Amino acid sequence: MKILIVGGNGTIGSKVSSHLSKKHELIIATRNSGDVNLDMADKPSIKAAFEKIGTVDAVVCTAGDAKWANFNELTEDDFYIGIKSKLMGQVNLVRIGKDYMNPGGSFTLSTGILADHPVRMTTSAAMVNGAIHSFVKAVALELENNIRINVVSSGLVEDAVAHYGAYFPGHNPIPMGKVVNGFVKSVEGAGTGEIIRMYDNG
Ligand SMILES: NC(=O)c1ccc[n+]([C@@H]2O[C@H](COP(=O)([O-])OP(=O)(O)OC[C@H]3O[C@@H](n4cnc5c(N)ncnc54)[C@H](OP(=O)(O)O)[C@@H]3O)[C@@H](O)[C@H]2O)c1
Repeated sequence: MKILIVGGNGTIGSKVSSHLSKKHELIIATRNSGDVNLDMADKPSIKAAFEKIGTVDAVVCTAGDAKWANFNELTEDDFYIGIKSKLMGQVNLVRIGKDYMNPGGSFTLSTGILADHPVRMTTSAAMVNGAIHSFVKAVALELENNIRINVVSSGLVEDAVAHYGAYFPGHNPIPMGKVVNGFVKSVEGAGTGEIIRMYDNG
């Protein structure tokens, strides 16, 4: 398969890329590195990237920002960071990418445990994750040409514990191989409209 992976050089993306590249042709897209550059918060850059790449068999997104801060400190503009990047960035990857997706292809988006089990400082990030889950379930009913869509929702991953562990008291870090398997299940499996939860605690 020819697979575009947005965010394919990040903490999760690099592990997903190195696994998928054993069997598939991968194109990595980020803002600053990779084979092609795009900013998922900037619609024209998504369109320009697809024009360069052409048709694909799968799009995987392991990118998307949201602002973490106490609810009392978050401004409306702070909420729009997550809405424009992680939420509408991924929605626009689907809106634009469906026209470059081969029949039977798939989209795999990323969210996280915060949708179900938020921690302090995540009103914006948790909200955006929940919205993406609802988007995936709804758009799966309407995508044409047997195009599938799923979302991988992981807990805090092992490789991010040094940075974010303190925000997740009592959480069991998720092994990178388990997270990678969520993406493999979505890309190589047959399911659609699924929230692939990669955690068993909250
Ligand atoms: N880390 C965790 O424990 C964890 C757990 C569950 C869910 N998640 C979610 O999974 C996603 C990836 O997390 P991560 O920890 O792997 O992040 P990361 O290490 O910060 O990597 C993010 C990757 O995405 C690219 N990127 C960031 N913003 C972008 C944009 N606007 N347009 C295009 N590419 C962009 C980055 O490259 P450039 O900077 O060059 O663009 C980088 O390659 C995030 O949405 C995160 O919320 C993370």
